[in-house]
Amino acid sequence: MCAAGRRWGRRQRALLWAVLLAAWEAAWGQLRYSVPEEMPKGSFVGDVAKDLGLHLPALRDQGVRVVSEGSTQYFALHGKTGHLVTAERIDREQLCERVQQCVLRCELIVEGEMQVYGILVEITDINDNAPSFRAAEKELRVSETTAPGSRYHLPEAHDPDSGRNSLQSYELSGDEHFSLAVQTGPGGDQRPELVLAKALDREEAAFHELVLRASDGGDPARTGTARIRVTVLDANDNAPVFSQAEYTVRVPEDVPVGSVLVTVTATDADEGLYGHVKYSIEKITEKGSHIFQLDGETGAISLLGNLDFEEGKSYEMEVQAHDGGGLSDTATVVLTVTDVNDNVPVLTVSSAVSEISEDAPSGTVVALVHVEDRDSGANGEVRCSLDEDVPFRLENSFKDFYRVVTARALDREQVSEYNVTVRAADGGSPALQSSAVLALRVLDVNDNAPVFSEERYSARLSENNAAGALVLTVRATDADWGQNARVRYRLSEGRVRGAPLSSYVSVQAETGALYALRSLDYEQVRELELWVRAEDGGAPALSSNASVRLQIVDENDNAPQVLYPPAGGAAGAGGARWGVELAPRRSEPGALVAKVVAVDADAGQNAWLSYELAKATEPGLFRVGLHSGEVRTARSPLARDAARQSLVVVVKDHGRPALSATATLSVVLAESVAELLAELGSAAEAAAAPGEAAGGLTRWLVLAVAAVSCLFVAFLLLLLALRLRRWRRRHLLPPDGGALRGVPVSHFVGIDGVRAFLQSYSHDVSLTADSRKSQLRFSAATCCDTLPARPLPDEPAPLLGDEDVAAALPTDPAAPSGEKSSIIQVGVEGRRYETDFVFCYCWEK
Ligand SMILES: *[C@@H]1O[C@H](CO)[C@@H](O)[C@H](O)[C@H]1NC(C)=O
Ligand SMILES: *[C@@H]1O[C@H](CO)[C@@H](O)[C@H](O)[C@H]1NC(C)=O
Repeated sequence: MCAAGRRWGRRQRALLWAVLLAAWEAAWGQLRYSVPEEMPKGSFVGDVAKDLGLHLPALRDQGVRVVSEGSTQYFALHGKTGHLVTAERIDREQLCERVQQCVLRCELIVEGEMQVYGILVEITDINDNAPSFRAAEKELRVSETTAPGSRYHLPEAHDPDSGRNSLQSYELSGDEHFSLAVQTGPGGDQRPELVLAKALDREEAAFHELVLRASDGGDPARTGTARIRVTVLDANDNAPVFSQAEYTVRVPEDVPVGSVLVTVTATDADEGLYGHVKYSIEKITEKGSHIFQLDGETGAISLLGNLDFEEGKSYEMEVQAHDGGGLSDTATVVLTVTDVNDNVPVLTVSSAVSEISEDAPSGTVVALVHVEDRDSGANGEVRCSLDEDVPFRLENSFKDFYRVVTARALDREQVSEYNVTVRAADGGSPALQSSAVLALRVLDVNDNAPVFSEERYSARLSENNAAGALVLTVRATDADWGQNARVRYRLSEGRVRGAPLSSYVSVQAETGALYALRSLDYEQVRELELWVRAEDGGAPALSSNASVRLQIVDENDNAPQVLYPPAGGAAGAGGARWGVELAPRRSEPGALVAKVVAVDADAGQNAWLSYELAKATEPGLFRVGLHSGEVRTARSPLARDAARQSLVVVVKDHGRPALSATATLSVVLAESVAELLAELGSAAEAAAAPGEAAGGLTRWLVLAVAAVSCLFVAFLLLLLALRLRRWRRRHLLPPDGGALRGVPVSHFVGIDGVRAFLQSYSHDVSLTADSRKSQLRFSAATCCDTLPARPLPDEPAPLLGDEDVAAALPTDPAAPSGEKSSIIQVGVEGRRYETDFVFCYCWEK
């Protein structure tokens, strides 16, 4: 119809419909068929040809067509058989979704006969659709506090089939907490509902998985399922719970700031906000609040400030855990601080001296130190010590106070300063220690005398030295310091040949150089023995002595001196000597004729003399002993030898250069004394011209012998007289007359090896009535036997003036002779002394 119909005009189409309607009215009886849906294409629907009584060939020829309503041709007519067959696969649910009876209408048009036949085809349902849910999953959120019996809508399933093939029932599987209720809606539809059969607990099961199954009534039945996921919503039904009711922690005090000491944990079974636990400190001391902090989220208690055992040994705090729903729990945290040896002992020098005299007695306090350790127990027990080998020790004076005292005598000369280290160590492990240094200077005391580098000095000095010559230098050192070590030298007093030593030598006070002050003569002084004293500048000063022995070395400065033969008048010049000797003419060779005697004031080689015959009248007749000086005949004198022989002997010493002297001897060769005398006479005559040498000599010799003899006799007489007088005075005191003479009496007294010179003076005084003039003289005799002694320094004897004596003596001439003791001041070398004088006086008649 379509292709042809379009070609027709509107008038023609309207006409066609009018004809068809009339034909429908005319042929009332319609064909009804039934066919199940979903039959394959070409399936048999009904035998139209038979039912309409049409002939098959006619059908073919007369242009028979089937026209369906709508655009889709579901049916076709099979030309050969005349059967109505399906032209398409027919889905009942698509064609008539909500219609119970699904009928398709079509027309069979027989064009040749201009006939239209109506055909109704009922499409019957088959169970080709399963019930289905729009969403395969459904989420439900149910609070755990929801009361049992509560209902929740569940998704409905849909099955487009109809009748029994459509949805018939629901069932629920999966969980005891839920049950299913199915309500019937106003349209008869079924509405599944979820009913809470049992209280939920999220903490037990947070999710419930259910399966809702929808079934139709087909055979076999088809089902569709939906998964129901019930999420249990949390309710704050659990309070946080601490893992421990009390946390006890021991913390060493040296834990660094920021360290976590303990972490408190509380758990809350709830979830989300209700299960989110936060921590806070509920109760804490003011001090603790500055030391500890609590992390609100983690519960970690960490150190905000330093712990110090010495300040706080234990802290207690209450912590609270609370969740977002306001439920909470509390726990106690007890923190015990343990001691760590973290404090160094502190040494304080309370007072100290910086200088100490070396003579300070043992036990002198040098310093007071205080020691302190803030730790407790063994960590706070402090031991103090000093270095070994210092002369100090520690004394515990009071609790933690120590005194540093000297342990023995100090000696500045050994150690002049100390750095005394006081150490303090505590008993910790490891021990902590500290130290303090006391600087101490030892002050000098004059406790060392100067010491000479040699105990005995000796030097040799050639005689005839220049005045002021340096002899030697003595040196003394003093171990002390400063003024105490300043040495000065001084010569000890002494006398040499009656003159003070200081006129011979002097020592320079500063340098110790010893100088000879005058030219020395070996022949007078062979050796000087003196003491040099070294004295330091301390108060009192200390000193020491050294002996100096100065040997004077001889020089050949004296010519030999001929003693025999004695000097002759003629031979005075040049030191020649002259004598007359007698030699018998019959003497044997070697007979001793004379001996030249000479001396030399020098010593040693310088005084070693040798004799030589320098000139002789008859050479060869005499010889001289080289060292003896003996003149002997070398041969027997002969008659022709002259009677008078003159010999010149040279005496030489061995000095360098040698000095010499000559002696001239006259030897007379005579047979007898008469001849000798004659010879002498002739000799005198011979000598008269030069000066009567021989005669004069003899005269002088005789005179000398006589004078010597007289002197000797007189001396003997004098000695006898003196002895006699002394004897008389001793036994006949007081003597009746005679002049007495004053005497000093001196004593040397030894005391402890020190030679002190003690002196008393006694004077014998003779008094005359008129002048009462006293005479003070030295004398061995005295009228007093015992004399009191009184010490006086080593000084020359004092001299008394006449007026002193006069004042001391009685004035009455009638008084008998006797003794009187008187203390008189005397001046000696510018100083004044008091001395005890005892006067023994007698009246002179
Ligand atoms: C003592 O210490 C001072 C300063 O450290 C130093 O100069 C001095 O030499 C020391 N003295 C001794 C005897 O060690
Ligand atoms: C030193 O000599 C003086 C006098 O010569 C004497 O008094 C003193 O005791 C002497 N000292 C010593 C230490 O020998």
